[in-house]
Amino acid sequence: MMKKIVVVGSSNTDLIIKVPEIPRPGETLLGGEFMTFPGGKGANQAVAAARAGGDVVFIASVGDDTYGTEAIKGYKLDNINTEDIKICKGVPSGIAMITISERGENAITVASGANANLYPADLEEAEEPFEEADYMLIQLETPLETVQKAVELCSELNTRVILNPAPAAELSIDILKHVSIITPNETEAESLTGIMVRDELTAAGAADSLHKRGVETVIITMGASGAYLSDPGSGIRKIIPGFKVKALDTTAAGDVFNGQLAVSLAEGESLEKAVVLAHAAAALSVQKLGAQSSIPRREETFSYLEEKLNQ
Ligand code: RIB
Repeated sequence: MMKKIVVVGSSNTDLIIKVPEIPRPGETLLGGEFMTFPGGKGANQAVAAARAGGDVVFIASVGDDTYGTEAIKGYKLDNINTEDIKICKGVPSGIAMITISERGENAITVASGANANLYPADLEEAEEPFEEADYMLIQLETPLETVQKAVELCSELNTRVILNPAPAAELSIDILKHVSIITPNETEAESLTGIMVRDELTAAGAADSLHKRGVETVIITMGASGAYLSDPGSGIRKIIPGFKVKALDTTAAGDVFNGQLAVSLAEGESLEKAVVLAHAAAALSVQKLGAQSSIPRREETFSYLEEKLNQ
């Protein structure tokens, strides 16, 4: 049976321009192509989990505009349950302006719009999906009070929580103590702990600081270096290398990692195997343009991994 994942988070439309280099402050750059893709960290993670084989409920808030309507149509095509997506009258849907350099790096600015209207009370109305879920996946593009409410609900219902603390923010112990697995990148790990993550030793320091505040398992994604996995319960503390690929666009790579991770763990894979599968899905995604347009399906991820392991 498919595992149930509830995702709470943002839904955006990404407006993308490709440029030779990310512009500096005050600089005007003539860019290349302009493209529009569905995005938002919450939505990307929901789509990633659905394509990885999860039975996904997405709890979000969109505006009553074309962007919101089209976004919901897209989630339905991925068989995501959209019943708990709130449609806010007279409020614009979330928009992300993204510039992508020739090296595949990006700079993202988000106008939250309706994402800022996802309130704690909206989660109370949607308690059933939390109760039934094997994992709840959440990020930080919706109000912190809502994140707080979501993790508390999960704690009461014994639903395991994966927190992807993006974009970077400081978080109180009241949130962290309810988190089963946290998945910051290096910058986010530094915002949470004050420790600049550069290598295995500094990653271990940041992970310890998060364990002390109640987080069971820490996975720090470190770009090309892989991911540092720290799970004192099983005694695993090491870097799990990723796959070397030429990145065309790294937008949503972290989201793909998290969506695949949640499904693999819900299916009973070990933490190490789940991280390897998450790396494989993310490696596939960075080779294509856009957020949801780049998210692989389960079969692609599994055959990519098999191919790599046989090399
Ligand atoms: O993580 C990538 C996402 O961040 C983009 O899709 C954009 O919408 C922003 O939310």
